Amino acid sequence: MFWLFNSSIGRKLVMSISGIFLVLFLLFHMSMNLTLVFSTEAYDMICKLLGANWYAIAATLVLAAGFFVHIIYALMLTLQNRKARGADKYASSNKTQTEWAAKNMFILGLVIVGFLLLHMYHFWYKMQFAELLHLPDAVSEGSGLVIELFSQPVYALIYIVWLFAIWFHLTHGVWSAFQSIGLNNRTWYPRMKCISNIVATVIMIGFAVVPVFFTFKTLCCGSVCCA
Ligand code: HEM
Repeated sequence: MFWLFNSSIGRKLVMSISGIFLVLFLLFHMSMNLTLVFSTEAYDMICKLLGANWYAIAATLVLAAGFFVHIIYALMLTLQNRKARGADKYASSNKTQTEWAAKNMFILGLVIVGFLLLHMYHFWYKMQFAELLHLPDAVSEGSGLVIELFSQPVYALIYIVWLFAIWFHLTHGVWSAFQSIGLNNRTWYPRMKCISNIVATVIMIGFAVVPVFFTFKTLCCGSVCCA
């Protein structure tokens, strides 16, 4: 078991598996968000299911562990690569074609985590944490909270910047994860590049729909309450 911690291959494997786990979470979270565009009732029902229930808390803890492992291993791999290669920080099979995202995975990760903390304050704190501790900030209707936030265009803009950082991170991250689990031959290299770009783009557009939709709704109608 220690090889997962001590060896370079073990670290890359843990990094890729935790990354794939986080991508699956993003696909689930994105699908859940999209229901809000069609029905506030359906969205609130899902939020209630994922509120202060024991299974939702257990899922949050598993998710937090996934983020924790991914970040700690990213730190270990970045330090290891820096030590081995000096300025060339991120491993790549073809150094001349190493893209911007590949070279800046750790920085992109830090930016994503920074925005994530803001996001947790916006939603998770009010919808799960405050409810759990019976704090006065607790909000039971997720739809109202999301719609209210994105009725302010500045927040839609902040979320779009965040989503761009996630897009860059995923275009390299998904490909790199598949490469680490063995799909790194000549046939699979272009396929995995293409799949990574598609996954990253679907996730970015899927998440962007909600802030863009509610910001435009507010700008066009003057109020989010209009039909
Ligand atoms: C426009 C985009 C997004 C919206 C409207 C949104 C909305 C929400 C809402 C309402 C919650 C609280 C749900 C609940 O606790 O029942 C939540 C939780 C969360 N969101 Fe987002 N989200 C967005 C994008 C993202 C992205 C891109 C990430 C990851 C990089 C993310 C990560 C999380 C995490 C980790 C939680 C806590 C989940 C848990 O409690 O288990 N969200 N989000």
